[in-house]
Amino acid sequence: MKVVITKSYEEMSMEAFSVMRAVVTAEPSAVLGLATGSTPLGLYRLMAEDHREKGTSYKKVRTVNLDEYVGLGPESDQSYAYFMRENLFRHLDIPPENTHIANGKAGDLAAECHRYNSLLGQLQRDIQILGIGSNGHIAFNEPGTPFGSETHVVALAESTIRDNARLFARAEDVPRKALTMGLKNIMHAKKIVILANGANKAGAVRGLVCGAVTEQLPASVLQLHPDCTLIVDEAAASLL
Ligand code: F6R
Repeated sequence: MKVVITKSYEEMSMEAFSVMRAVVTAEPSAVLGLATGSTPLGLYRLMAEDHREKGTSYKKVRTVNLDEYVGLGPESDQSYAYFMRENLFRHLDIPPENTHIANGKAGDLAAECHRYNSLLGQLQRDIQILGIGSNGHIAFNEPGTPFGSETHVVALAESTIRDNARLFARAEDVPRKALTMGLKNIMHAKKIVILANGANKAGAVRGLVCGAVTEQLPASVLQLHPDCTLIVDEAAASLL
């Protein structure tokens, strides 16, 4: 795994953006695997600014997202579909039909997992952007998830519910379940860029880079990927 340590969140976002821009420029119909959460917001701002000012086009790009809360649809401002529209898609020229996120409101969740998993098989990602949870999760693959897992419904860990409660009015409002790509799906991407900032990620980052490859720290599976880059700020790198 290549490790890039940056001075700040802004510099981390710039480094990620330069990898992303190279992928989209080399392949105008690239497939991008995208994440939600606080970590990639700086990257998304830079992509929007670059599109506005330099005209980089996303007309032929396709995107797939890592995960979505069960019970929330695109109209809910806490859903990941809403997050992606507000923070990225509406600032680019990407056709909405080229953007894919699992449907958290599907009546039949098993069928939705199956549909999304087949889609991921058809759309091999040129790049997958990841954040990391303080417990080492990637997407919503919590500790203990098998490395061979594919798209599935997950009960969120208490620590993840606590971490994400900051984004909801009340902790009770955080959905308890989500649809998520599995670890095998994530590993299928040609290139992976994992981002982390802040001291609360330092323990997980240490496990990711220097720890054993273990299902107890799902991100550690990335040590087995042939083209994975970790971009971290100094606070998140403090235990390396
Ligand atoms: C989001 C996702 C999660 C986050 C992780 C870190 O789509 O899959 O794994 O990347 O929880 O979240 P933030 O960036 O908010 O610290």
